[in-house]
Amino acid sequence: MRAATARGAIVAALAACGALASSLVANAQTPPSGCTSIAGVPPIYSGIEFGAAIEGIFTNYNGMGNGCADCHTTNGGSTMPTGELDLDPADTPSPYVNLLGMNRDGVDSPLYAGYVYVVPNHPEQSLLFMKVDCDNPGAGARMPLNNYMGGLSVQQIALIYDWIAEGAPAGTTDGIFRNGFDIRGFNQ
Ligand code: HEC
Repeated sequence: MRAATARGAIVAALAACGALASSLVANAQTPPSGCTSIAGVPPIYSGIEFGAAIEGIFTNYNGMGNGCADCHTTNGGSTMPTGELDLDPADTPSPYVNLLGMNRDGVDSPLYAGYVYVVPNHPEQSLLFMKVDCDNPGAGARMPLNNYMGGLSVQQIALIYDWIAEGAPAGTTDGIFRNGFDIRGFNQ
């Protein structure tokens, strides 16, 4: 019974891959280059908690209280978050809704035509991952901008990859999706 359910999930995931692969061909993305290899970081399939792990990067990636939300926020008198994307958990809507939409149906970047912030199960198609992994994401600069306050570690970049690869849940990843057939980042 369990095995049949797991097989069903894998078949559904593979079918979704096919549909998304053809949609990627249809838009006009520039292939990213200058990307940090995450191949040496062991994948984490289960137990990545969006609030603690991913929002933790947004608010404090260097252990000294600096994060993406230092710029990507509507707090501090700014009326529009830098880059149009609010990643501050103190703001409404939440970073999760800003990245995935109310119904997890994707949010288009208002800055870069053809780019979606997060495509669940497809970090390689997600602007969020391209921006933190590559010097030339094809859409503006690598994030955090100018390596702000030390930038991200390769483990933090891999964590964002693994969270998206596992379906980008609002709660905690459960290990169902990528285990065993993970492409692990860009080849560049
Ligand atoms: C020092 C300020 C600063 C910090 C820190 C920063 N960003 Fe940005 N971000 C920007 C600016 C400016 C832009 C718009 C220019 C660009 O895309 O290169 C931007 C754009 C983006 C975009 C594209 C937004 C859009 O609407 O398409 C994403 C995604 C992004 N940043 C993610 C992040 C993440 C994730 C972090 C933390 C790891 C981060 N940023 C940290 C300044 C910052």
